[in-house]
Amino acid sequence: MRLYTLTASAKINLYLEIIGDRSDGYHELVMIMQSIDLADRVTVRGLATPNIYLKCDHPDVPTDSTNLAYKAAALLWEAFPNVVKPHGGAEIIIEKNIPIGAGLAGGSADAAAALVGLDLLWGLGLTQSELQTLGAKLGSDVPFCLAGGTAIATGRGEQIDSLQGLDEPYAVLAKYQSLEVATPWAYKTYRQEFSSTYREVGRERSLQQELVPLGAIVQALAKSAKQEVGQYLRNDLEKVVLPNYAAVQVLKDAMVECGGLGTLMSGSGPTVFTLAADRSQAEAIAAQLKAQISDPDLKIWVTRFASSGVKLAA
Ligand code: C5P
Repeated sequence: MRLYTLTASAKINLYLEIIGDRSDGYHELVMIMQSIDLADRVTVRGLATPNIYLKCDHPDVPTDSTNLAYKAAALLWEAFPNVVKPHGGAEIIIEKNIPIGAGLAGGSADAAAALVGLDLLWGLGLTQSELQTLGAKLGSDVPFCLAGGTAIATGRGEQIDSLQGLDEPYAVLAKYQSLEVATPWAYKTYRQEFSSTYREVGRERSLQQELVPLGAIVQALAKSAKQEVGQYLRNDLEKVVLPNYAAVQVLKDAMVECGGLGTLMSGSGPTVFTLAADRSQAEAIAAQLKAQISDPDLKIWVTRFASSGVKLAA
């Protein structure tokens, strides 16, 4: 049976601004997303029987139909029954390196890899844009995880416009392994506390969305000015996660003290990252953080920005 192995990159958010409510219950966002080289490996293997099976080496990842990669397979199966049927089923094997419930889009990355792998396995011949439209049905971050690199994401996060990436940047990531934040909780709490600041749909909102891409951080990215990018990092969800998770606030403060170009929580957290100009600065920050917080539950990664999302493994 044929098989394909793909790498599925995690993302960090260099910018996450919550604009307001949407009629579909989601939030209107403007984000700058960045792929990093912390990645899962996803293998799809053809099966003679018409079943979908999923295996994962991480005990906390569900292997049933609630897994987003399983849902990706079911979505293709239902959308293209006549093409898929003659091929039989598929087994999806996920080797997990991206922490779960971390704000790094690990589940979305696996779903993106499953879409790409199954498209190849089942000979569907889908274009990148078709894959992204299907991916958006699975989760707001899946289209970015397919595209990867550096991008502005608007709408509920599923509309992607690529940006030029920085030259040779690194990010030091840190997360308490036992701590997870549920994304729906973070957005719901934000709505409860800050909906009075939401902008109405219409002129005011579209003006805001037009202005942000022209804003300081985008200009800094265009100039590949890492120092400036570090100064303009923003994540509105910090306003609800940091006060409710004291350990994440303490971690962020400690990381700020370690230097680097800027420190921010990624997505709905609780992963915090610090941008570094190069590998040696990143390694020095990681060593200092380890010395500062001697908790075996704290995991630290030195990662490099990546220019792609899902790709065939070497
Ligand atoms: O799209 P996804 O399923 O990954 O989103 C997870 C949850 O995060 C949603 O159920 C919603 O509560 C919240 N969310 C939101 N607005 C967005 C994206 C996510 O409110 N743009």
